[in-house]
Amino acid sequence: MPFSELLILVGTTTGNAEYTAQAIELDCADLVPGIQVLRMDAQGPDVFGTPQDMARRLVLICCSTYGSGDVPDNAQAFYARLDEEPRDLSSLRYGVIALGDASYVNTFAGGGKRFDERLSGLGATRLGEIFIHDATSGDAPEETGLAWARQWLQEVQNA
Ligand SMILES: Cc1cc2nc3c(=O)[nH]c(=O)nc-3n(C[C@H](O)[C@H](O)[C@H](O)COP(=O)(O)O)c2cc1C
Repeated sequence: MPFSELLILVGTTTGNAEYTAQAIELDCADLVPGIQVLRMDAQGPDVFGTPQDMARRLVLICCSTYGSGDVPDNAQAFYARLDEEPRDLSSLRYGVIALGDASYVNTFAGGGKRFDERLSGLGATRLGEIFIHDATSGDAPEETGLAWARQWLQEVQNA
């Protein structure tokens, strides 16, 4: 079990991403002992900690999409600070749950994808594919996101 902690960072406006993160927090303690859910409001690059912290703490970005494929309002400042105050995130391993609506053809799930680009641009490594939840599917994101997260955590912890 390489990771003893999971930090889930939530970007949301109407709560879908937060419910998904909370479902993971409630259900996945058998796969990673210390799970913490933080809304992105008022966060900055320090949230990732030191390289030693990053070695034991896996990060999961759980973020919806607004505007023109933008991150939600509660994530705007955090997203900007990652650019304005860049850190070496080469020790960071992360996954992404991107929530969107496929009727926004050109910007589908752009919020989560933007975080993926920004973190990888700072040297972090994404483990696994991005999980995309489409609001037009009728699936509950806290159900399909949780199922994906359990599989993802099993693969990451057994790697
Ligand atoms: C005003 C508005 C704009 C949106 N813009 C996009 C968009 O550009 N791309 C997309 O994929 N989804 C878009 N969505 C869909 C949301 O990202 C989706 O409903 C998501 O599940 C909301 O998650 P949240 O409750 O965590 O904020 C938009 C929704 C609203 C209400």
